[in-house]
Amino acid sequence: MARKKIALIGSGMIGGTLAHLAGLKELGDIVLFDIADGIPQGKGLDIAQSSPVEGFNASLTGASDYAAIEGADVCIVTAGVARKPGMSRDDLLGINLKVMEQVGAGIKKYAPNAFVICITNPLDAMVWALQKFSGLPKNMVVGMAGVLDSARFRLFLSEEFKVSVQDVTAFVLGGHGDTMVPLARYSTVAGIPLTDLVKMGWVTKERLEEIIQRTRDGGAEIVGLLKTGSAYYAPAASAIEMAESYLKDKKRVLPCAAYLSGQYGVKDMYVGVPTVIGAGGVERIVEIDLNKAEQEAFDKSVGAVAGLCEACINIAPSLK
Ligand code: APR
Repeated sequence: MARKKIALIGSGMIGGTLAHLAGLKELGDIVLFDIADGIPQGKGLDIAQSSPVEGFNASLTGASDYAAIEGADVCIVTAGVARKPGMSRDDLLGINLKVMEQVGAGIKKYAPNAFVICITNPLDAMVWALQKFSGLPKNMVVGMAGVLDSARFRLFLSEEFKVSVQDVTAFVLGGHGDTMVPLARYSTVAGIPLTDLVKMGWVTKERLEEIIQRTRDGGAEIVGLLKTGSAYYAPAASAIEMAESYLKDKKRVLPCAAYLSGQYGVKDMYVGVPTVIGAGGVERIVEIDLNKAEQEAFDKSVGAVAGLCEACINIAPSLK
């Protein structure tokens, strides 16, 4: 059986890390794409030269022509610019929206059967626009945010409780931003919900609230430390987990920005919810019960995402 083909659209910090991880995990042959000619070719060659040492088999190539992604099974999109000082969120939105238009056209032409994972920010609006620009089925286009946000929550909880990260599960819903909704009731240590751990005296409500806030600010904390860029190791690992679930039909239950057509009372928007990812793409949206406070926080988050989509429509009316 021929190897699977993974196209990485955007070969910056996350794109390069994605290529490295996809190689190490032998997920398939990898094509790096970028408008900055030379970068994808250079990174591809560098990572390919690590394969004899690491012992993995994968072809890694770089290109700045969309024809190179032809027939890709998975496309992971990180193309775009990050916010720079003095740039408003709308400026960023406008620039990256144009990038999504180009990327959507490239995928539509050369990889219409791919499973597409978008990482470019502002995530929930960009993945929504990318699906519309590409015209791919809605269950085949998802956004990576929840796996990363949950991973951050899991790490902070494992450090707090001094237990293995493997035994901590966490659920984060809503948009990828300040309004994300980490759910204490559905996050556990070896199956014990955080709400019970509060009762058991493992953590106070106040301390748990601090950890939740640190999770919400997780991206900003890294930007503050790096100063010249944003997180890339954990975002890349998170997207690879989603790609692997699709390629190997693992049917993992993963929180992703998925297209909602009425679930959770939301229509025609991408919002972070639990999904099942398998060979059929997003095979299922898991609808969990939310209590009043959780529903309010979720609605607020949905409102923020809706605002971003409106801003996109103002720039590109064809998205309506
Ligand atoms: N087509 C293809 N590639 C593009 C385009 C385009 N139109 N515009 C920019 N790029 C490329 C840049 O040349 C750069 O190599 O996208 C790459 C982005 O890489 P980085 O700037 O290193 O950004 P990275 O840290 O990888 O983050 C990418 O993911 O998490 C989000 O906010 C983050 O939106 C950002 C994205």
